Amino acid sequence: ATTTVLSIAAIGSVQADPTRCDPGEEVIKFSHIVNTDRHPKGIAAELLRERVNAEMDGIACMEVYGSSTLYNDDQVLEAMLQGDVQLAAPSLSKFEAFTKQFRIFDLPFLFANMEAVDEFQSSDVAQAMKSGMEHRGLVGLEFWHNGMKQITANAPVLVPEDMAGLKMRVQSADVIIAQMDALGASSQPMAFPEVYGALQTGVVDGQQNTYSNIYGQKFFEVQDGVTETNHLLLDYMVVTSVDWWDSMTPEFREQFSTILAEVTEARNGEAERVNQEAKQAILDAGGIVRELTAEQRQMWVDAMQPVWKQFEAEIGAENIQAAQEINT
Ligand code: LMR
Repeated sequence: ATTTVLSIAAIGSVQADPTRCDPGEEVIKFSHIVNTDRHPKGIAAELLRERVNAEMDGIACMEVYGSSTLYNDDQVLEAMLQGDVQLAAPSLSKFEAFTKQFRIFDLPFLFANMEAVDEFQSSDVAQAMKSGMEHRGLVGLEFWHNGMKQITANAPVLVPEDMAGLKMRVQSADVIIAQMDALGASSQPMAFPEVYGALQTGVVDGQQNTYSNIYGQKFFEVQDGVTETNHLLLDYMVVTSVDWWDSMTPEFREQFSTILAEVTEARNGEAERVNQEAKQAILDAGGIVRELTAEQRQMWVDAMQPVWKQFEAEIGAENIQAAQEINT
C-alpha cells in the first residue's frame, strides 16, 4: 500500500488522496486531533502508519487523519463503534462515558514526573484498565504519553488566587472541573478545535494543556503567558473497537500489537523532549513562561489536592496510594 499525503480540501473537509490500498488489504483509519508533527501523539501516529504500511504491506494499509480533519474527540468513539474509524488515541480524560477508571490520571499533582506515570501505567492495576471498556465495545491497546499540563490565561497568573473568576476551557471531565472549582475559576468544557477561537475572542479567559499543545495550537499567541504548574497529566489511550479487533485474525492482531508496542516504547520515551522543544519554541517566538518557586508550587498543590478526597471512594484509596508510593 502506498499512502500519499492527505490533501485538505477547502472549508476544512478532508479529501484523502486515494490511499492506494491493494485489494484484500485491511484499511485502518487512525483519527486524532493534534498536529501530525512536533507533537508526541502526532509523531507516534505517523511512525505507526509508516511501520504498518511497510511491514504489513499486502495485509493492512493505514491512513492517519490528524488535526481533527476526520473527527474530533467528541465524535470519534461513536464513529469507532459504527465501524467508520479503526484507531483513535483520545486523552484519558475523555473516556468518562465508557469508564471512570481513568479518573486517577486526572488527579492534580498525583504523579511527580513522567517516570512515575510510566511505572504506574505498567502496573497490573493500570494495565487491567485497558480491558475495562470491553463491555461498552472498546479495547484499550496502549497508553501513550504527552506530558504535564501548564496553565495559560489572558492575564498574568502566578498563584492560585490569580485564577479567581477566570473562565477556563476544560476537557469534559468531572475531576478536571472540580479542580477549576477549587481554584475559584469557572469551567467551560469545549472541543479541542474550538479552543483557539474561544481564547482569541474572549469566550474563555484561559485553558490548561501541555507545551506541545500550547505551541501546536498557537494558544500562547492569544494569551498573556504560560504558568509552569505541571499540575495535571495529559496522556492517551490508543483504542479500537471490540468488533473490529475480534474480526481480525490472531496473526494480524499479534503482528499489529507488536508494532504498536514497539512504537509506544520508542515514542513514550521521547514525549518529554518534544514538550521541552515546544516550550523553547514558545520562548523563541516571544511567549512568556512563568516558572514557579517551590513555595509558589506548594500553594497550587495545597489549593488543588483536596480534589482527591472528592473522588477517592470511586477511584480507590489503595490505587491512589499505589500511585503515590511510586513517587517516593
Ligand atoms: C484536549 O482536548 O485538550 C486534549 O485532549 C488534546 C490532545 O492532546 O488530545
